[in-house]
Amino acid sequence: MCGIIGIVGREPVAGLLVESLKRLEYRGYDSAGVATLEAGSVLTRRRAEGKLRNLEIRLAKEPLTGLIGIGHTRWATHGAPTEANAHPHATARVAVVHNGIIENFRELRDELEAAGQRFSSETDTEVVAQLVDFHLARGESPAASVAATLKRLTGAFALAFLFPGHDDLVIGARRGSPLAVGWGEGEMYLGSDAIALAPFTDRIAYLEEGDWVEITRAGATIHDETDAVVERPIVVVSAAAFQVDRGSYRHFMAKEIHEQPEVVGHTLAHYLDLSESRIRLPIALPFDWAKLERLSIVACGTAYYAGLVAKYWFEQWARLPVEIDVASEFRYREPPLPKNGLALFVSQSGETADTLASLRYCKAEGQHTAAVVNVTTSTIARESEAIFPTLAGPEIGVASTKAFTCQLSVLASLAVSAGRARGVLSAEDERRLVRALGDLPGLMGRVLRLEPKIEKIAREISKAEDVLYLGRGSNYPIALEGALKLKEISYIHAEGYAAGELKHGPIALIDETMPVVVIAPHDKLFEKTISNMQEVAARGGKIILITDEKGATAASVPILETIVLPDMPAEVASIVYALPIQMLAYHAAVFMGTDVDQPRNLAKSVTVE
Ligand code: AGP
Repeated sequence: MCGIIGIVGREPVAGLLVESLKRLEYRGYDSAGVATLEAGSVLTRRRAEGKLRNLEIRLAKEPLTGLIGIGHTRWATHGAPTEANAHPHATARVAVVHNGIIENFRELRDELEAAGQRFSSETDTEVVAQLVDFHLARGESPAASVAATLKRLTGAFALAFLFPGHDDLVIGARRGSPLAVGWGEGEMYLGSDAIALAPFTDRIAYLEEGDWVEITRAGATIHDETDAVVERPIVVVSAAAFQVDRGSYRHFMAKEIHEQPEVVGHTLAHYLDLSESRIRLPIALPFDWAKLERLSIVACGTAYYAGLVAKYWFEQWARLPVEIDVASEFRYREPPLPKNGLALFVSQSGETADTLASLRYCKAEGQHTAAVVNVTTSTIARESEAIFPTLAGPEIGVASTKAFTCQLSVLASLAVSAGRARGVLSAEDERRLVRALGDLPGLMGRVLRLEPKIEKIAREISKAEDVLYLGRGSNYPIALEGALKLKEISYIHAEGYAAGELKHGPIALIDETMPVVVIAPHDKLFEKTISNMQEVAARGGKIILITDEKGATAASVPILETIVLPDMPAEVASIVYALPIQMLAYHAAVFMGTDVDQPRNLAKSVTVE
């Protein structure tokens, strides 16, 4: 996911642009660049491959003094991460920065080359600059040229434009990727999100789908996709939303792992009445749990695994049939959906392209829609009928941790609410489950104190080529999540499996070189899992068992290491058992020396297909 910034300023903006781009580093990128108007009209660019440090070195050698400019961090989709492909892309008449994908770029490029436009890069973004240039060359104004161009583009994008000779105008546009407008004192800003604008202002307006905006030092003129002038509400973004420093932690991921007791507690307080031990949802539901025929859960990556855990809860606590799929499959499978169906979308960023497309499919199919999101101003949130926020705060590490356990906390609360409404859970059941959920922060705090032991075990894992994670029931998705965490930040190959599946193939992998992480609280499935562990041990497999006291005592097989968690109700164990697998992956990655917060090839939010 790329980052965009634009400033119409009263002082030199190059340093401000870079400062803002630093707040967007968490999105993942592999090149960066800025463009300003020098002497009020001469379009000048500085671009660099790799980290922003390289761009700062370039600017130190060749400073820019312009009072207006645009900037960009690029995560390569079309064209390698080279300086030539870095944004801004420019012609003699316009510079542009872009987040997203222009799907019809090839068709447009052919048309423009036939009309005499000359290209200098292999990116889809340059097509946008050339198309605006084409209109400018025919005497159209910057606003008219952008408006005409937007009507030709298909795909998902956020854009910002700068025009030589126009030192009091930046134009922005959004379709599928977020873009915010910021109000300053005699200055105006554009940015991919509020965090990017935090150094300058807390007065923000979010552009809606299809909007484009002209910003000058006097303010903003926002147009909708019909080019009509519209108003968008200006909100004051809370200071908390800007807290993106690492504090005393070495990585954002470590900080966010340790924030979980606090933010899970904060989230649960939004859904539970802990004094009465009952569910108290933050909104009036626009649907009736009792009338639903089916719940469809759609998400990607870690958010999908949260949904997979929730499938067990909704089916067991509410007897509500659940269909779940990854969004990239769901959207093209076009599943038939029941008349009285609810589609639930789980997404930290609220901007994941496949999840958003699935939401739009479900709305077109007449489903009730609801979103479990961490960014309540996100596109998925704003297009859903109901929003269930996870109050995790900004999650900067690319690998999702606190958002995941907050998602699980919200989903568990919703499943209890559904169980009560459908007459499956009694008032006593509700009290019991709410108390169990209310105990999560304390349980998580106790588990975090196991970190020194987990760090030692992680050292063993960091030497492995392949790791297997096993779990049963609602801990099977935790096995999948554990494997994903290890893969995405340490680059060690790992697979998660339902423990009962071992004998259907994966057991062929087992030998003394492969650590097998078994996630098994002493619940009603524990004995079944013991037999799986015996199969592993008999073949020399190295077992790392994550269990509780009773499980540790009952495990009658040779175990390499045991991580003993506090006793807790089986219904909520999946939420707490996420912490040791997060810490295992984190410390393995630290031993591997990888870029833990911004792993290679990954972006925090995949806003393109
Ligand atoms: C999480 O560790 C991953 N980085 C990734 O799988 C992520 O969960 C997925 O891309 C979904 O993102 P979202 O929650 O913002 O929709």
